Amino acid sequence: MPSSTPARPKLDTTSPNMGRVADYILGGKDNFAVDREAAEAAMAIIPNLSLLWHEGRRFLGRAVRYLAGEAGIRQFIDIGCGLPTQGNVHEIAQAVAPGARVAYIDNDPMVVVHGQAILQDDGITAVIEADARDPEKLLAHPALTEIIDLDRPVAVLLFGILQDITDDAVAARIVQGLREAIPPGSYMAMSQPVSDLSPESTTEMAVMYEDRGAVEGPTRRGGVRSKAEVDRFMDGLALVEPGLVYIPWWRPDGPIIHGAESVWVVGGVGRKD
Ligand SMILES: C[S@@+](CC[C@H](N)C(=O)[O-])C[C@H]1O[C@@H](n2cnc3c(N)ncnc32)[C@H](O)[C@@H]1O
Repeated sequence: MPSSTPARPKLDTTSPNMGRVADYILGGKDNFAVDREAAEAAMAIIPNLSLLWHEGRRFLGRAVRYLAGEAGIRQFIDIGCGLPTQGNVHEIAQAVAPGARVAYIDNDPMVVVHGQAILQDDGITAVIEADARDPEKLLAHPALTEIIDLDRPVAVLLFGILQDITDDAVAARIVQGLREAIPPGSYMAMSQPVSDLSPESTTEMAVMYEDRGAVEGPTRRGGVRSKAEVDRFMDGLALVEPGLVYIPWWRPDGPIIHGAESVWVVGGVGRKD
């Protein structure tokens, strides 16, 4: 994998890392005892955490298959990618469109160094350390521009990251900055837990986020938003059917087993015309 971080951090196996915690919850093998303990503790607070993350990955799969298939997209920028885990964007996209290019972005150096170690150096995928809060710098990163041509349509993926950007103004600026930078014919896809149906659980999730120090800005606890607030992030995009919905309902490819009452995460895909 092309490296974007000259000085690679050593893997810290003494404190939990959210990417590896998620990997454990998703049934992956790239985690350590400390991550497994943190995952079990988180699941004790939010018992359906595993379901939320699994449904999140399923939605990611359906959205990327749609983008690479029906929408004809050949370039993907997966921002807040987390650890390469079960069902990665490049595997899904390249199964539909061999040669599809994927830039994975995360601001967690541990996620990046681990991702670079896991993924093969194939010239069409890259794992890059960059911060979504500076979209211009992110899109100008030499490791990104080496594989992604921003004069051609691209899909920008924001799956499960916007709740980490707890300041609404900052989150809105990120989405707007990315939308303005991509050419017409591009897509943006996003997902985020919302508080409408399960305020208690989302508050618990917010506290969990706060405990891990992922709080930004003075305005809210742990990025808990309403569906209407997430809807506004899609302003300026033509929403692909069925719009921004609870993720099990977004173009299901089988029977819906878990409904919105247990999967309180919304997601959608929009096109920039
Ligand atoms: C919950 S994980 C989502 C992983 C994956 N996208 C998924 O849907 O399964 C959120 C990821 O966003 C990353 N992240 C949070 N804030 C970020 C920022 N400002 N810039 C880039 N990445 C960020 C975190 O490090 C973490 O790996």
